[in-house]
Amino acid sequence: MTRKYNFSAGPAALPDEVLQQAQRDLCDWQGKGLSIMEMSHRSDEFVSVAQQAEQDLRELMSIPDHYKVLFLQGGASSQFAMLPMNLLRGKQTADYINTGIWSKKAIAEASRYCTVNLAASTAADDFRRAPAPNEIQLSPEAAYLHYTSNETIGGVEFNYIPIVALCLWSSICHRIFSLLPWMSAVLE
Ligand SMILES: Cc1ncc(COP(=O)(O)O)c(C=O)c1O
Repeated sequence: MTRKYNFSAGPAALPDEVLQQAQRDLCDWQGKGLSIMEMSHRSDEFVSVAQQAEQDLRELMSIPDHYKVLFLQGGASSQFAMLPMNLLRGKQTADYINTGIWSKKAIAEASRYCTVNLAASTAADDFRRAPAPNEIQLSPEAAYLHYTSNETIGGVEFNYIPIVALCLWSSICHRIFSLLPWMSAVLE
């Protein structure tokens, strides 16, 4: 078989050795006679896999100890609702930057929980660019600013992190490891 490479914005190519190890482990995890998905999530084996995954992530991304790492179900879309539910904290307004399809989905969901202040939008340019920093108009009432650092469908990417005094939220799941220098500056 000739292996193909997927260069799209979502799932990407993995090294052969990684796939082969996953294939082996799927039927028999480290000689236990069953897969990790069939074991109790409280077993020593599963707990050690989860701990190792967190440790590896912390090392790869240089995540400081005073930050928690949460592995959550529901994909990025569930965060469109989780974000206002968790970060409004009594406030009624949130800032959103609209750069295309994913921003619109985030805005539609947040509108169910709060007043969305459109801090910037590039709709007039058919979402072909990200706004410049001086186009962003933050609301003093806002609990946080949400922006989509990479609109993976429209192909629009921010080449900077908007600076806000309060709280910044961005969907970066598809490019998380390409942002390491920025991440370490933000996490300090
Ligand atoms: C920027 C962005 N936000 C949100 C999503 C939605 O992610 P999920 O499919 O995990 O809900 C995607 C998925 O491709 C995305 O690229």
